[in-house]
Amino acid sequence: MNKSIVLIETDFILTTYNISKCTEGSVSWKTPSNIALVKYWGKQEPQIPENTSISFTLDACFTVTTLEYKKRDTERSRSGQNAEKISTSLNHQSDKSNFDIYFEGEKKDDFKPKIELFFKRIEHYVPFLREFDFVITSKNSFPHSSGIASSASGMSALALCIMSLEKELDPTISDAYFNQKSSFLARLGSGSACRSIEGELIVWGNHNEIKGSSDLFGVKFPHTIHKNFKNYHDTILLVDEGEKQVSSTVGHQLMSNHPFAKQRFIQANDNISKISKALQHGDLKEFTTIVESEALSLHAMMMTSNPYFILMRPNTLKIIHKIWDFRANTGSNICFTLDAGANVHVLFPEKEKLEINNFIINELIQFCQENHYICDRIGKGAEQLLIKN
Ligand code: PMV
Repeated sequence: MNKSIVLIETDFILTTYNISKCTEGSVSWKTPSNIALVKYWGKQEPQIPENTSISFTLDACFTVTTLEYKKRDTERSRSGQNAEKISTSLNHQSDKSNFDIYFEGEKKDDFKPKIELFFKRIEHYVPFLREFDFVITSKNSFPHSSGIASSASGMSALALCIMSLEKELDPTISDAYFNQKSSFLARLGSGSACRSIEGELIVWGNHNEIKGSSDLFGVKFPHTIHKNFKNYHDTILLVDEGEKQVSSTVGHQLMSNHPFAKQRFIQANDNISKISKALQHGDLKEFTTIVESEALSLHAMMMTSNPYFILMRPNTLKIIHKIWDFRANTGSNICFTLDAGANVHVLFPEKEKLEINNFIINELIQFCQENHYICDRIGKGAEQLLIKN
């Protein structure tokens, strides 16, 4: 596969593979979460973003997923042909789930509908999916109820496991294709998950200034990142550890009739151009302005949708004001961003870590639920853990 060619949807359909090559085994991936600097909020079917987004891949917040697979003893598996004769039984089978899922040691049947929907969306691209039975075992490095979205790391981990199985069936696929198709599949599970395959900065969504960018999958930021952004920190302040009141699925939908949507998508695409320059030139002040404006614009969209909603909590605002005061008093390059929730991501450069860590401990964690926070930083992407056959 030529790396310089931008792949299109049909490039991701696996057409020939040798199912007899693998009957059973297991694969495991450790996959990080990510935090968007320019936000994705608003999409079209099938999971096509309305604007380009860019994120830092994280390191300490990750999911580990193991996919155990066993070839089904179906008539198709035995004969490899005569599709008409067996179509009735296969149609029946595809209605039933062909997997069990365990999360942190517990069987989770309530997770099944989401995974089933994911399988339905991707089976066109990975047709071998229905020829196996699976056991999916997953755990997160962060507490499930922490308010940190686990869909990015969770869906990307599962997509990578499925791609490892594809590689067993078709060992000729290149590493570049493996990563792009993993991101493509992950996107169909959860949009932001497509930015969790590689590090350190990932762009998703076609943008005329980002070479190779695509609406279908995430790509590595194509320019050299200034040393000011090396080892960048993200300390996540857990303000509200409960379930979100409004899911991101609903939030995205509300953008389709939003009075400010058109302008918002233009703003985000402009911010991609601006942040691209700031990242290359090491312009921390400009970075701060874009990142904070993006966080507040995301929440402004929520507050002005119909119906409107607020995901920030009083302590979210207290933290933001404390950060602004600290910055005004010290000239620090500390800044914040927000996800679709109340938690605050505090971003800062490596060289300011001592002063800022002290500030966080002394002044910010009092606003966290039970003083909970997670020290994270920019990461290098997903890692395969083991293959047993
Ligand atoms: O991937 P989703 O559908 O959960 O949407 C994520 C949306 C934000 O986290 C708010 C922004 C982003 O770009 O990650």
